[in-house]
Amino acid sequence: MVDRSSTQPLLPEEVYERALAVGRRAAGVSGPNPPVGCLIVRDGDVLAEGATGPVGAAHAEVEALRHAGGAAAGATAVVTLEPCAHHGRTPPCTDALRDAGVAAVHLLVRDPDPTAAGGVARLAAAGIDVVDVGALRPDLHARAADDLRGFLTRVRDGRPHLTLKLAQTVDGVTVPPAGAYLTGTAARSHVHRLRARSDAVLVGGATLRADDPRLDVRHGAGTDGSGTSPRPVIVSASGDVPTSARAVRAGTLVVVGPDPHPERDAALAARGATVVRVPAADDGSGLDATAVVRCLLEHRVLTVLAEPGPRLARALLTADLVDAVEVHVAGGAAGGQVRPALPELADVVRVGADVDVVRADADLILRRARGGAVAASGLQEVA
Ligand SMILES: NC(=O)c1ccc[n+]([C@@H]2O[C@H](COP(=O)([O-])OP(=O)(O)OC[C@H]3O[C@@H](n4cnc5c(N)ncnc54)[C@H](OP(=O)(O)O)[C@@H]3O)[C@@H](O)[C@H]2O)c1
Repeated sequence: MVDRSSTQPLLPEEVYERALAVGRRAAGVSGPNPPVGCLIVRDGDVLAEGATGPVGAAHAEVEALRHAGGAAAGATAVVTLEPCAHHGRTPPCTDALRDAGVAAVHLLVRDPDPTAAGGVARLAAAGIDVVDVGALRPDLHARAADDLRGFLTRVRDGRPHLTLKLAQTVDGVTVPPAGAYLTGTAARSHVHRLRARSDAVLVGGATLRADDPRLDVRHGAGTDGSGTSPRPVIVSASGDVPTSARAVRAGTLVVVGPDPHPERDAALAARGATVVRVPAADDGSGLDATAVVRCLLEHRVLTVLAEPGPRLARALLTADLVDAVEVHVAGGAAGGQVRPALPELADVVRVGADVDVVRADADLILRRARGGAVAASGLQEVA
């Protein structure tokens, strides 16, 4: 049964917190597999922990069991995602838990993947006590689902989870004067925290050429161990990507059109970047935005923070690729250029019940996630 068993009280809060923290260590590593955390616990003591490894390596449960050894017999496994019940690149985790003699499994999120689901039934059939902690504690479920948002979006839509961030002044300026920023330090620090919890940061070619952004994590974000450094993703239909750009470095993905360009590709590869080809959009606007986002899955990217200018933002919104959006409204007027308005954005962010409005010093941040649930969709508090 997927119920809290009468014999199984919930574990102390810090145990679930630790399982979440362990799972976060796999962010940016495990893709396209989910970044799962697993603990082996006995009498409230954590005996061992494991996080999902890279593709083909052990899942979190197997890693934790390996560390626990014989001590796993009779212990409780705490997992952030329902253990898989299928034989993929690795054997089912349900069987590993059964064979290790684990007595109980506490899980935070049920697995929606039809090929891997069924873990709870398989564990129960093996006589293991299963506690669906997520069903009893919606707050813990929401946090685990937030950490697993890339995997959950992959299963539902066959692509990574995408958060779109756009800044503008109250008078509609989206392009700041050279060397200036539209928003203040608090809002920009928040963007760095969003980056730290994303597998990739995406911009278009025009932004790369105009701003030469670094697309790294600064402002002290990420020092809490939240995720690895995101890989830059540059989207360019023209292929005009200067190899001297600061975001062109080891790990960078440069997504271009289908035509080969051996010299450019070799120059980008020499900088450690990977060139990925996708089809052009039918309407001639540039690249096929859906293909751009989908292709990132093949490069271990499950979560994307898109920080484009208005044109690429429009392509992402029009193709319904935006799962969460943040509009940063600068409290002051910075000068610069008003770019074409984005009516598509107004359809997504209508200030109302499901738009969260947060103040960041002089700026405002409007946030909305698909389905309206901010906490469950990758948007954390602004410090
Ligand atoms: N306010 C903000 O939040 C913000 C954020 C970022 C940038 N900016 C500003 O925005 C300006 C650039 O604006 P932008 O809208 O041109 O930015 P962008 O984010 O660079 O997007 C446009 C570029 O994306 C590429 N692209 C590929 N497929 C596309 C498609 N289907 N539709 C649209 N673009 C596609 C093209 O690159 P190629 O030209 O290489 O083919 C195109 O030039 C810069 O001056 C920058 O300062 C503002």
